[in-house]
Amino acid sequence: MTSKEIKIAYMEYESLDQLDAEDKALAQAAIEATALSYAPYSGFNVGAAVMFEDGEMIKGSNQENAAYPSGICAERTALFYASSSRPDVAITALAIAAGQKGVLCGTPATPCGACRQVMAQYQLKSGRPMRVLLVGSEKIWRFEKVDDLLPLIFDSI
Ligand code: THU
Repeated sequence: MTSKEIKIAYMEYESLDQLDAEDKALAQAAIEATALSYAPYSGFNVGAAVMFEDGEMIKGSNQENAAYPSGICAERTALFYASSSRPDVAITALAIAAGQKGVLCGTPATPCGACRQVMAQYQLKSGRPMRVLLVGSEKIWRFEKVDDLLPLIFDSI
C-alpha cells in the first residue's frame, strides 16, 4: 500500500499590473466579456477569453435559457467558439472573470466541473499546457495547466 499526494500549484497576484503583457490583455478581455453575458435568471455575469498560439484572442460569455440546462457557461462558449472557428490553431490560455451588476467579484469565480473537463479536452487537442487565469478585482490566480484545476484528467478513450 502506498500513500500518494497530488499538489496543485498556482500564483496569486493582487492586480492586473503584476501580470505580463499577454496575460494582462487576456484578463482584460475576460473582464470585458462579462458585459456580453446574457444572464437574466442568475444575474451572474461570466466572461471568458481564449488566447491562441498566434496571439489572437476571442471572447465568450455565459448564455442562459428559460429551460435552464440549455444555457451554457462562459468558458465553454469561448472554447467551443475557438475550436469551431479555428480548429487547427492551438489554444494556449484561457481567462475567466465574473461579476454582478457591473461589479467584478473580488475573489475569482472558479470554473464548474463540466467546464474543467472541456478545458482538459482542448488542452489535449492543442497538445500543450493551457494556462488558466481566474480574474477577480482583488486577486488573480494563474494556473500553468488545466491539470492544476482538474487532477487525474480523464483522457482514456
Ligand atoms: N457559470 C459560468 O459561466 N461558468 C462557470 O464555470 C460556472 C457558472 C454561469 C452559469 C450560469 O449562467 C451562471 O454562471 C450561474 O451559475
